[in-house]
Amino acid sequence: MSQRKISMAVIRRLPRYYKYLGELLNNGVTKISSQDLSDTMQVTASQIRQDLNNFGGFGQQGYGYNVEYLYNEIGKILGQDQLHNMILIGAGNLGQALANYTSFGRQGFHLIGIFDINPKLVGLKMRGIEVLDIDNLEQFIKENSVDIAILATPKAGAKDMAQNLSDWGVKGLWNFTPEDLFINGDMEIENVHLFHSLMTLAYQIHND
Ligand code: NAI
Repeated sequence: MSQRKISMAVIRRLPRYYKYLGELLNNGVTKISSQDLSDTMQVTASQIRQDLNNFGGFGQQGYGYNVEYLYNEIGKILGQDQLHNMILIGAGNLGQALANYTSFGRQGFHLIGIFDINPKLVGLKMRGIEVLDIDNLEQFIKENSVDIAILATPKAGAKDMAQNLSDWGVKGLWNFTPEDLFINGDMEIENVHLFHSLMTLAYQIHND
């Protein structure tokens, strides 16, 4: 399938499509109209058609969408047909919660290394992985194929860390520090802010 550049707004909606389609597939549903998909997902049918048209639609007039095909194609777009090696930098409260989240592994995101600067954490095992001193990071990345680094350290030093990771060849950074990071180089960065979601919820509470 040839792919043109898709807007990030569309890409950000795809994981939801993927999840719902996976559930339909598990329930034995083989085809679905954009209207039924819309009713299930609470997204307008026209939005669904517009989004899926970005990839050639995957649907047939009067037939609807083939659930398995659509699920697999969206999965490929989202890299779900590949395995990703991940490392975690910062094994504090958030880092440990992320390391203990087993679903990432089931979705093909494999944690292969954990790093921290705190000597009390170095040497401990989290999900069977020994926490290494941060001084080992460059060597580890050179010896292992690291696709994604999770950054869960305090924000001081985060930008320098991100630049190093990019220079050492890491392809993507899942940045949880409060600072939005932008660096020179090819590494893609996804800045994650749970607080933004919380503020959106607060807005909804006060504007229903
Ligand atoms: P924490 O203090 O429990 O953990 C931070 C860990 O990073 C510690 O183990 C510390 O030793 C380690 N560390 C510090 N400098 C390091 C370095 N240079 N290299 C390697 N490890 C280093 O903090 P917590 O609660 O786990 O939060 C971590 C980060 O995530 C903070 O920046 C916090 O603001 C942020 N955060 C972001 C959220 C989000 O939605 N994006 C939600 C919650 C926290």
